[in-house]
Amino acid sequence: MRDDEQPVCPNCGWPLHIGQHGPHPEDAPREPTHPLPEDLAHRFVNGTIFNDAEVVAEGEHGDIYRGFIREEPNIGIQAAKLRIDFQKSSSSNADTPKQVRFEYVQPDKVDSESDVLVAEMHIAPWGKNKFVLQHRYVQPEFQGKLGLGTKLLQQVESWLAQVASEKKEDVILEVDTGQKGVISWVEKNGFSVDPDQVKELQEVVDHPDRYALEDVPDVDGLTKPEFIFRNDTPGRTVIDAVRFTFSKKISG
Ligand SMILES: CC(C)(COP(=O)(O)OP(=O)(O)OC[C@H]1O[C@@H](n2cnc3c(N)ncnc32)[C@H](O)[C@@H]1OP(=O)(O)O)[C@@H](O)C(=O)NCCC(=O)NCCS
Repeated sequence: MRDDEQPVCPNCGWPLHIGQHGPHPEDAPREPTHPLPEDLAHRFVNGTIFNDAEVVAEGEHGDIYRGFIREEPNIGIQAAKLRIDFQKSSSSNADTPKQVRFEYVQPDKVDSESDVLVAEMHIAPWGKNKFVLQHRYVQPEFQGKLGLGTKLLQQVESWLAQVASEKKEDVILEVDTGQKGVISWVEKNGFSVDPDQVKELQEVVDHPDRYALEDVPDVDGLTKPEFIFRNDTPGRTVIDAVRFTFSKKISG
């Protein structure tokens, strides 16, 4: 550790200079995650989600409004919080958000007044009853360890179930991906591939020799792992990858 760095717990990243260190993730009680407030779904469906909401960030693609934030003691991360934000479209005055953003955060190790992202799932309302999971990301140091991606997805699905209940109609959550790890993850979480793509997905599984897996830098500056490319495809950017659409029906 450098002299100017603050000490952190090697197991969970808790900034030790901030204060008391609670139980480690593996020792923490495993309790079901709490239900989300129903009024958020209600306000989303009746078009009042932005009424009286606080702007927490301004951006060129649209301001971010705070929907909800609470402590999240049972996800295996010290001092974690769950927050749900709504992005307003910068190009229209629509009452429907451009994105609903579910995020796990924890205090910054250097500036404990600020939070840093641990995991994020951003869904975009798409037409009448569809939502697209446009962004799903767990910070690399937490990937594959604590089930964070699945837990945050469960929060998304729980909120969508409330939306479906308000609408009195099922909703569809859709994921479009060209990444091997994400494909395994959505399949494990009960998503089904588009019927027109079943054969091609089976080919990826049965003939890995016909495909290359590569990590690729994306427009947001992150290098994203394990994109699937056909060997005979010359390009190796995100848009050259073989992509699959998965979906899951969510009832209220
Ligand atoms: C996919 C992701 C969201 C899953 O979250 P996570 O907390 O790491 O994983 P979870 O504990 O929820 O789920 C684990 C399961 O996901 C699947 N999985 C996740 N990453 C995988 C990988 N790299 N290879 C194969 N399977 C993988 C497996 O089914 C695994 O189950 P197993 O441990 O029994 O094999 C996360 O790994 C991630 O962010 N990956 C990078 C995705 C990315 O680049 N997103 C940006 C594009 S928008």
